[in-house]
Amino acid sequence: MWNKTKATQLLNIKYPIIQGPFGGSFSSVKLLSTVSNLGGLGSFGLNSFSHEQILEIGSAIKKATSKPYNLNLWVPLKSDPVHRFKEQDYNAWKDTYDPIFREVDLSIPAAMPKNELNFEDQLEAVLKLRPPVVSFIFGIPPLEAIKELKKNGTTIIAAATTIEEALLLNDTEVDIMIATGKEAGGHRPSFLNAAENSLQSTEDLLKLILAKLDKPIIAAGGISNGEIAWKYLEMGAGAVQLGTAFLATHESGATLEHKELLLSKNSYSTELSKIFTGRLARTITNSFSIDSLEKLIHAPYPLQSKLLSPLMKKYKENGWGEKLAFWAGEPSAILTKRSTESLFESLIQEIELLALKKKGA
Ligand SMILES: Cc1cc2nc3c(=O)[nH]c(=O)nc-3n(C[C@H](O)[C@H](O)[C@H](O)COP(=O)(O)O)c2cc1C
Repeated sequence: MWNKTKATQLLNIKYPIIQGPFGGSFSSVKLLSTVSNLGGLGSFGLNSFSHEQILEIGSAIKKATSKPYNLNLWVPLKSDPVHRFKEQDYNAWKDTYDPIFREVDLSIPAAMPKNELNFEDQLEAVLKLRPPVVSFIFGIPPLEAIKELKKNGTTIIAAATTIEEALLLNDTEVDIMIATGKEAGGHRPSFLNAAENSLQSTEDLLKLILAKLDKPIIAAGGISNGEIAWKYLEMGAGAVQLGTAFLATHESGATLEHKELLLSKNSYSTELSKIFTGRLARTITNSFSIDSLEKLIHAPYPLQSKLLSPLMKKYKENGWGEKLAFWAGEPSAILTKRSTESLFESLIQEIELLALKKKGA
């Protein structure tokens, strides 16, 4: 049976289809529970939430599904540039961005914003929730945390963007790895080399990792229909993870404008840029990034997005959507599905048909 893999066994799910987690306001309990209740693995990105908020989200999830689900956290980078960003760097940032803020009658933020969120607090809340699955990006989760999670029966997933990262993760207690290709929407979760130097395609990365490692591998990046999903499953992926296709459905937390763009021909052109958050991330091609990429310095994540937030708000009020970040993957097929259920069912039908064809061939 095409849908029985080592990964589906470990995750205790019927179909090897994962709704990728989204940070910020893009995840929703409705999206997670719809996917999990249909037999896939629904996910919720917790990167921007506090301990208390995580406990609330967890309790809402438990009311919405009794099926396995995944909670996602970002591991702090070992040598995070944010720790080296000092007052003089901030002054240089202000000088660069001042004319851009003034153009729309805004004054530049007077003080450097603080980052109140703390990974240990987030992790502690996740541990209290005893979720069936936890996924990490941007690095190797601390061994102690993995041990604690495993005591509760939690399955651990972590993401690699290069074979070197996969080899490192292979030597840890992580149960399942994600091969995240450069096509993927949102942030490029590299943690060993610079993200801009870790840009292998999903297919190439998956091939490399499968040839070298035994842990179950999830393919992620640029998957938007059953045909591509089947291609990776046939290659040996234990499951496929889709982000952008689920982001475009009614159930996700994305704005209506964002969803309409994902379902339009604007989504054909995407680009990787650091300009919006300070870390490399894939968005629909936009004029702010094109105009600024070559010329502007950027503050490290998460300062850049915090500092730009009044500017982005103003662009939104002015109706200058072409300057905003609309996160999206490089699509492998045109997105058409507006409901999570219809997307999920069509994936299953398309894959089932291809699997049957192969069996009959
Ligand atoms: C808006 C957005 C936010 C994302 N946030 C996260 C996140 O917080 N954690 C994570 O592990 N992956 C995150 N991702 C990656 C997705 O979970 C998924 O792996 C990726 O979107 C797959 O590629 P695709 O978009 O081409 O389908 C995000 C993706 C998008 C589009």
